[in-house]
Amino acid sequence: MATHRESMHGQWSSRWAFILAATGSAVGLGNIWKFPYMAGENGGGAFVLVYLLCVALIGIPIMMAEVLIGRHGRRSPTNTLMEICKEQHHSQWWQLIGWSGMLVGFLILSYYSVIAGWTLAYVFRAGSGTFTALGGDAVGKIFSDFISDPERLLAWHTIFMGLTMVVVARGVKSGLETAVTYLMPALFVLLLILVGYAMNTGYFTEGLSFLFKPDFSKISANGVLAAMGQAFFSLSIGMGAIMIYGSYLPQDASITRSSIIIALADTLVAILAGVAIFPIVFANGLDPAQSVGLVFNTLPIAFGNMPGGAFFGMLFFILLAFAAWTSAISLIEPMVTWLVESLGMNRVTAVVWTGACAWLLGIGTIFSFNLWSDYTINKMSFFDVLDYLTSNVLLPLGGILITIFAVWIMSEKSTREELSISHEQGYSIWRFVLRYITPVAMFFVLLKVAGIIGS
Ligand code: PFF
Repeated sequence: MATHRESMHGQWSSRWAFILAATGSAVGLGNIWKFPYMAGENGGGAFVLVYLLCVALIGIPIMMAEVLIGRHGRRSPTNTLMEICKEQHHSQWWQLIGWSGMLVGFLILSYYSVIAGWTLAYVFRAGSGTFTALGGDAVGKIFSDFISDPERLLAWHTIFMGLTMVVVARGVKSGLETAVTYLMPALFVLLLILVGYAMNTGYFTEGLSFLFKPDFSKISANGVLAAMGQAFFSLSIGMGAIMIYGSYLPQDASITRSSIIIALADTLVAILAGVAIFPIVFANGLDPAQSVGLVFNTLPIAFGNMPGGAFFGMLFFILLAFAAWTSAISLIEPMVTWLVESLGMNRVTAVVWTGACAWLLGIGTIFSFNLWSDYTINKMSFFDVLDYLTSNVLLPLGGILITIFAVWIMSEKSTREELSISHEQGYSIWRFVLRYITPVAMFFVLLKVAGIIGS
């Protein structure tokens, strides 16, 4: 019988607690704000299909790898990798995966908090009935006025970052479990209500065919990369967030089943958001490729024109802010635990440093929507560069390194023990997929981007 480590930061009370927390990390702005506008910008159906393939062939196997590495090492990602390398006599360089993960989490948090601030602002707009009976133009103007005001964006960014820091300072596990248990299903129900509204717009079939009828002439090579990047972003993989949650997972919990449940829940929420949004887009003659404003320019039309819309709108944005909050916690957690473990900081100081620096960097994102909107590199604003670099480059790079580490570096015995899939075949399939299919699929995407295959 193997001996197992224990995490100095405690353990989830059960497998369900882990599933809820990891789902809380996965489901967030990525599903409801980002997925629809990425699909809209990249031609709809083909993007969605590539995205789903990426979730199944790349996302789930990498998520399993992250969880098993985390549980095996039971420390912050950097120290976990270091421990495993020590134990199995491999180069300490592998801990670089942990370093890059901390950096990526920090970079994502800086802009994530800004966008989450928008959802907080919309709680009050929706609740006060601002959108009542408004059409697309008026709703669009409210949004463009809002993002052109750096002071307001800064205030909401500060509030959101503050809220995140408070929870992380108190320790991730207290409260997260209970909160996710009730609020995630509530968000789900509200999405269903929005889908109900979308069904009555008269443009439901247009919305569905936009999302589910693949037209490969509409997706560019960069669109394929964006679909892969979105799968990483949405599942919270490639940077150690799921690894750190895995480090708190009880030893007897099934990693395979948990990962599949998390990925399914995450995908369902993203698809439902798309199904709710696109009929509204077409019914109001809006542009599906309108980038970051899509959710804020469409859903308020629905809330403004449905019975009880002010209440449902307010509730929806509260829940969205909450979903963003449970994701933000997991973005900051790897760096905080590392500061606690390796520099001996207390948790509160670690949180204050990390949060304050991410807050400062977030100001760049705020300005990219107003004061700096004319400063672009290759037509990309400061926010676009951060988003591209994190989602399309660093998360997939982290993912491929995690893959190599799990199936080529770690001993087969230890991964087999962690996964403890009851049938021999299950383990062999996972290992085969991660050894051959996942890297080939990622390589295929890269070739496409380099223009070597297809157009
Ligand atoms: N998965 C989150 C979302 O979809 O909003 C964002 C995220 C959280 C990305 C944690 C990466 C991460 F490590």
